[in-house]
Amino acid sequence: MKTVGLLCGREHSFPPAIIERVKRLGARDGVTAEFVKLGGTQMGEPARYSVIVDRISHEVEYYRGYLKHAVLQGTYVINNPFWWTADDKFFNYSVASKMGIAIPKTVLLPQKGYPNDVDITGESLHNLEYPVDWDGLLQEFIDFNQYVRCFTFGKTDIVPVHYDPKERKYLVDHQYLTPELGARVVKDAQTINQALGYEMNTIEFAIKDGVPYAIDFLNPAPDFERDRITDFYFEQVVEKMARLVIDRALNGKPSNAWPRWEEMLGIGAAAGFTGAPRSAFAGQKAAAAPSAGSAQGS
Ligand SMILES: Nc1ncnc2c1ncn2[C@@H]1O[C@H](COP(=O)(O)OP(=O)(O)O)[C@@H](O)[C@H]1O
Ligand SMILES: [Mg+2]
Repeated sequence: MKTVGLLCGREHSFPPAIIERVKRLGARDGVTAEFVKLGGTQMGEPARYSVIVDRISHEVEYYRGYLKHAVLQGTYVINNPFWWTADDKFFNYSVASKMGIAIPKTVLLPQKGYPNDVDITGESLHNLEYPVDWDGLLQEFIDFNQYVRCFTFGKTDIVPVHYDPKERKYLVDHQYLTPELGARVVKDAQTINQALGYEMNTIEFAIKDGVPYAIDFLNPAPDFERDRITDFYFEQVVEKMARLVIDRALNGKPSNAWPRWEEMLGIGAAAGFTGAPRSAFAGQKAAAAPSAGSAQGS
């Protein structure tokens, strides 16, 4: 039996629905689902779950620590807790922009203040130029005439939805995008997820003069509540998430969840060996086959 665990907070409609759906759809392949239960974790403790769907570890530090441990024990976690810890909006904008996605012009500025419990003085900040030009552009405003929010399931199954950002409302409107624009939105969302490794996400595009600008694509625990996403999309989300986690329970390889921006930008192979000293690699081979000569790499 393979078990999918759900880690979530104050959600009402999605958790029981996904657990029930995974049980129903997964039964013939021996996949079931339940709420994750945790009460302290020992090093080396074997993985109880084949897959964990994480919707709350950004708010509970212990959960994040547990999830990283679970990955080490072979659990497939959606979304990858290591990447979630590392990513930030400016970096993600920069990666997407290099990959040809339209992005509003954005500047990263030094923060204006520091928490009181951190001992930072003027001397600590001597690497910063002073004064900082706080009037500099932060982000270009896209004066959009259309706005879409895409649900994404796995990296490539993309469901664009007409979204009203002022009312924070999802609208069911299948004719909202022309086929050409819809195809571009789907392709851009796929590129973003493939590069950054998200499998459960929402990606927002503001559309101006026919160009979709990616605005917000860092929502790794997107809202799945029925009242807010409409009955129509709720049903789609439950079905597609259930099929995704069953597939990952049966076929998931943890390396699938890793970001691929190094590979996609041509810097090096995905999954972390970019720039590793060749001597380290030679050392691994030598350990496996002691007769191999060792190369000194740089
Ligand atoms: N560059 C921009 N141009 C136009 N509208 C924007 C821009 N950035 C954000 N917005 C608007 O503000 C809303 C919130 O911004 P977003 O980046 O999605 O932040 P959050 O992380 O709070 O969701 C967006 O849904 C969009 O309507
Ligand atoms: Mg947003």
